[in-house]
Amino acid sequence: MKILGLLASYRRQGNSEVFLKEALRGAEEEGAEVEIIRLTNYHIRSCTGCARCHTGQNPCHLKDDFNGLLQRVYSYDAIILGSPVYYISAPAVLKLFMDRLVCEGYPIPLYGKPGALIMTYGNRGFHSYAFTLPNSLFLKWGMKVVDRALIHSASPGDAMMDEMNQARCLEMGKAVARAATTGKVTYLGEPGICPVCNDSIIRILKDRKTVICPTCGIRGHLTVVNGEIKVLFTEEEAKHGRYSAEQWLQHHTYHVELGREWFMVNKDDRKARRAGYQKYLAPKVQEAE
Ligand SMILES: Cc1cc2nc3c(=O)[nH]c(=O)nc-3n(C[C@H](O)[C@H](O)[C@H](O)COP(=O)(O)O)c2cc1C
Repeated sequence: MKILGLLASYRRQGNSEVFLKEALRGAEEEGAEVEIIRLTNYHIRSCTGCARCHTGQNPCHLKDDFNGLLQRVYSYDAIILGSPVYYISAPAVLKLFMDRLVCEGYPIPLYGKPGALIMTYGNRGFHSYAFTLPNSLFLKWGMKVVDRALIHSASPGDAMMDEMNQARCLEMGKAVARAATTGKVTYLGEPGICPVCNDSIIRILKDRKTVICPTCGIRGHLTVVNGEIKVLFTEEEAKHGRYSAEQWLQHHTYHVELGREWFMVNKDDRKARRAGYQKYLAPKVQEAE
């Protein structure tokens, strides 16, 4: 059983790396073979939105490390992501990687496999969207999240002094390894408001009663009982999150494929109108590509 530590920090022996390595140490103690991939070691170009992958041209045509990296990531039985919080969210390198996943086929080889998240942050209260991107990544891959840790760790290397959270991550790694072996996943992290992604961010809709989980897209109802906010998402609703197999198929059938047909229908008209936009405010110096 092979477990990957996917690291999204440039810092060598930084906080995310230290906690991630503790988790991998835990997984190793449970018999796993463990490895680290540092995303920042790879040349990952930005998705250019060319949409060639939507016309069936796969793998992505861009010349960089992405395709090889993705195949390597697919080969593991579980993934633990270690990442710092940057600007209350995840760092750009993770988004760069995730944007390129638009070219993925379906189903994804990681479907149903266990995963876990370790996010480190430096300023208390400055981590509102810490889990948003990582949750989307695991949901998109159809992975089952075993645990999530959000750890305060301010200066470079603070994690090396934090034995309590090292122990927490070690246990996380053991749990991931056990889940990978048995196929049984029980969520051990802090429960959130959303029953699918366990985040606590909700968006209030115009009727001021309905709320939506921005990550999963499931709708619930908000009430206040004895001064306490309660949000009810029905079990049925929780089955139809935007990353559920059924919704994903619908997305491809009605958005991606119909979008492609619409594109072909008015291709010539589009081309004719394009010229006007090309000339207006065209850069004076030739930009790369
Ligand atoms: C560019 C940058 C942005 C950051 N933004 C935040 C932030 O919004 N909230 C926060 O709590 N910490 C922020 N931090 C602090 C890091 O999250 C923190 O130091 C973390 O432990 C770094 O992990 P690392 O050592 O694995 O890179 C930021 C750090 C950098 C370098």
